[in-house]
Amino acid sequence: MELIKYLLTATLLITAQCQLIDRSEIEDGGSFNLTCDVSRIGNSNVPPIVTSLYSLTIERTVVSGTQTIAVYSPALFKNFTKTIPDNRPWVIEASGGKSSSADPDLNRATIKLTLYVPDAKCTDAGIYSCNANFPSVGGVSTASRSQNMTSKAKTEDPIINSDHHNGNNPHYSSNPEGQNLTLTCSVLGPKSLVLKWQYRATNGFNLEDYPYTNAIKVANPLPVPGTTCDQYRLESALALIVQSQETLYVCAVLDGNNRVTETNFTIGIQTDQTQEPNTGPSEEPAGANVGAIVGGVIGGLVLIAIIVIVVYFCWYRKRNDDDSGKFGPFLIYQ
Ligand SMILES: *[C@@H]1O[C@H](CO)[C@@H](O)[C@H](O)[C@H]1NC(C)=O
Ligand SMILES: *[C@@H]1O[C@H](CO)[C@@H](O)[C@H](O)[C@H]1NC(C)=O
Ligand SMILES: *[C@@H]1O[C@H](CO)[C@@H](O)[C@H](O)[C@H]1NC(C)=O
Ligand SMILES: *[C@@H]1O[C@H](CO)[C@@H](O)[C@H](O)[C@H]1NC(C)=O
Ligand SMILES: *[C@@H]1O[C@H](CO)[C@@H](O)[C@H](O)[C@H]1NC(C)=O
Repeated sequence: MELIKYLLTATLLITAQCQLIDRSEIEDGGSFNLTCDVSRIGNSNVPPIVTSLYSLTIERTVVSGTQTIAVYSPALFKNFTKTIPDNRPWVIEASGGKSSSADPDLNRATIKLTLYVPDAKCTDAGIYSCNANFPSVGGVSTASRSQNMTSKAKTEDPIINSDHHNGNNPHYSSNPEGQNLTLTCSVLGPKSLVLKWQYRATNGFNLEDYPYTNAIKVANPLPVPGTTCDQYRLESALALIVQSQETLYVCAVLDGNNRVTETNFTIGIQTDQTQEPNTGPSEEPAGANVGAIVGGVIGGLVLIAIIVIVVYFCWYRKRNDDDSGKFGPFLIYQ
């Protein structure tokens, strides 16, 4: 077991060391480093008899053409030139092989060129090569190693929108239990991304995959105009019925088996006290009208009753005065 582990680690280390560029795919806005030396080219590709190189060069072939990015010639020409496209903040460094001696340096093991690109763009995708020029019987021979670097659109943060969003919190809305609503998750990124819905009660423990797949509608990816990368807008809509308890919905952005990013939206339960004025535009005026009608009817009945009592009382008092107080005033209540 230990031996297998050791061998695996060693293999990984060797593979990593042999890579020209520290990644095989760049993301727009990401960064990458390229290291060019005899070990990357492969020691066996430079004949063992060669103890010193004339020069090391870095070249690339991208959509816009082939460019020589750096030439380092410490032994033969004692020069080091850099060609950085479009004033970009690239860092190119050369080391090894420098000597005050007139003899060619024994630079094979030390000569090195490095390129650091902190502002990778999709247009930087292409073939990068590291070339070693060394003396040979015919004059100059070249050994090279190249790497095809691909690019990928940047994945932005996903957003969830609700078609019944109450309040200003981008991650929360309270809605009445039983209401039908749709959550829409959208993200900008490569076409290969997949959006996955998960949920749990906010007082629960396990985030579970949303089980009702027919409630989920995935839109066709739309290309985002004006990007050099193939960036797309991906969207997935989840139709749901508001549950009896507060529920957290998560939209996870997957790239293969890799969970790239995610966002969430919590639906709280709206009680009568917290009811928002925009819950049902048709219900609200109807409720208000019923209240007004009931109030008016009761008010009218009370008014009529008061008038009847007052009129009857006055008429009775008048008659009572005429009858010289035979009956007490309480008789009206009989
Ligand atoms: C890439 O090069 C830069 C500048 O030389 C350095 O700061 C950075 O750590 C390097 N990154 C990796 C992953 O080697
Ligand atoms: C390096 O210097 C030599 C001699 O001056 C010159 O011939 C060669 O073109 C230079 N290389 C570059 C890439 O400037
Ligand atoms: C580089 O890789 C990309 C993506 O895999 C591929 O489409 C392209 O043809 C490759 N280029 C070369 C020169 O191999
Ligand atoms: C919600 O949608 C279901 C069908 O998906 C429907 O049967 C139900 O009546 C709807 N409820 C409301 C309150 O609109
Ligand atoms: C929901 O997303 C926000 C913003 O990304 C984050 O701050 C918060 O921790 C998340 N909540 C849960 C329960 O995952």
